[in-house]
Amino acid sequence: MKVLVIIQLLLCCVTPIKAVTIESCPSAIGSLLKTEVEETVTLTCKTDESIDPSNQELQWYRNGARVNLAVENRLSRSSLCVQSVTKEDNGVVFTCQLKGDASVNGSIEFDVHYPPDLNDTKEVFVEDKSGVVLSCDVRANPPVALVWKRDGEVLDLTTGSYITTNNGITAELSIPKAVRDVHQGTYICEVTSPVYGIASRTFIVTVVDRVLKFPVGPTIAGVVVVLCTIVLALISRRDNIIKCCKRN
Ligand SMILES: *[C@@H]1O[C@H](CO)[C@@H](O)[C@H](O)[C@H]1NC(C)=O
Ligand SMILES: *[C@@H]1O[C@H](CO)[C@@H](O)[C@H](O)[C@H]1NC(C)=O
Repeated sequence: MKVLVIIQLLLCCVTPIKAVTIESCPSAIGSLLKTEVEETVTLTCKTDESIDPSNQELQWYRNGARVNLAVENRLSRSSLCVQSVTKEDNGVVFTCQLKGDASVNGSIEFDVHYPPDLNDTKEVFVEDKSGVVLSCDVRANPPVALVWKRDGEVLDLTTGSYITTNNGITAELSIPKAVRDVHQGTYICEVTSPVYGIASRTFIVTVVDRVLKFPVGPTIAGVVVVLCTIVLALISRRDNIIKCCKRN
């Protein structure tokens, strides 16, 4: 190991490492750039002196896809501006590399902070003994902590046959079989962000009486009875008609 390190050190001294450096506004910590939705970010890539003047053309990539820049913005110094950062830019990696030597490169990753998009009230009507799902968009960076409340209190999930799920994008509270005395009330999905504080969505759940559905079975039976009667009537009339004819 020691021998290897010494050899590497020697190599460093003999051939200085070729490099590109990325400067950013706001500045990055290491290769992670913290920003927020709707902010503007500027990235500037520069070649260092060790790079051959004839090989100074730079290229930018966003998550591996080439970013096209003006020719005059490619030599020895190349700037890229991301106007109005979006949620979708979270986790995106920008890479700058020397066109003639891809191994001379530098990267920066976006860490885009955004609050959960929750701040409203929904009225929900569910039929007696039917199921209902209350759902909340909990996407946020940094991630949020979630709690379901009912009529102001933390919901007791051990009673009422509630089912909850949360995949970090959508959080759901299911009531498989609504019963008015048990389930009617005001539910809140409340999320707490370490950066943006508390946000919530309110659901006013009302359990309504079952609506009588149009009875399909008896209807078909009724239609069949009517058809049979018509056919029978025709047959008996036909007999009469035939008898009439014979008599003549
Ligand atoms: C960037 O440079 C590193 C180290 O030289 C290399 O391992 C990597 O493959 C390079 N990336 C690309 C996209 O060529
Ligand atoms: C939520 O909505 C209210 C008005 O309905 C508004 O005053 C408040 O600023 C909103 N909060 C967030 C976090 O969007």
